[in-house]
Amino acid sequence: MSWQPVRDAYSTMSEQYIALFGGDWEAHEDDTALVRDHLAGLDGPVLDLGCGPGHWTAYLQALGADVTGVDLVPEFIGHARANFPASRFRLGSMTELDVPDHAVAGILSWYSTIHLPPAELDRVLAEFRRMLAPAGRLVIGFFDSDDGVTAFDHKVITAYRWPVSEFSARLAGAGLTELQRTRQQFPERPDRMYAAIAARAA
Ligand SMILES: C[S@@+](CC[C@H](N)C(=O)[O-])C[C@H]1O[C@@H](n2cnc3c(N)ncnc32)[C@H](O)[C@@H]1O
Repeated sequence: MSWQPVRDAYSTMSEQYIALFGGDWEAHEDDTALVRDHLAGLDGPVLDLGCGPGHWTAYLQALGADVTGVDLVPEFIGHARANFPASRFRLGSMTELDVPDHAVAGILSWYSTIHLPPAELDRVLAEFRRMLAPAGRLVIGFFDSDDGVTAFDHKVITAYRWPVSEFSARLAGAGLTELQRTRQQFPERPDRMYAAIAARAA
């Protein structure tokens, strides 16, 4: 698929997005614990795919991970490099990295698959699995749904909600076995439900 519409949409809104996440930023403690517990202590490289302004990359790097943030959007990578000079960032698509098979110990995909039309998800999960070493870890965040897979009008560009059980089944189909999940709802966003799954490469 072409990533151009997603890249252009985030590029256009990059200032607003950076204002939200590029400075002080706080995630739910269950989510920071999920990311930390599954990705910070790995022996090998970790990729933060779709890193946006780079806050999760910097979080993992501060915990000692050998992490690289990757994003499609030059404004995000420019901001991330300037804001987090101790961390590594790379401009590119998470589906077109010259990473050999099974070369990566961990992958974080925090809301970077949310804009994929449902028919495209399996192909991207297969690419994550290809890059991961046996027993490598994936932590993936996405919008939760109790009403099937549904598209909605995300502020940047159309996004999709997934029932957690269905997302977990897609992961299993790609050879990624669920280990743990988190689910959140925030009082200021009663219309949204958030989920994340930590999985191990089978
Ligand atoms: C909802 S934002 C999440 C950003 C960041 N992970 C965060 O937690 O704030 C989705 C991000 O995924 C990136 N993205 C989407 N498709 C991508 C792809 N194929 N390769 C690299 N980045 C991608 C977008 O540019 C955007 O920065």
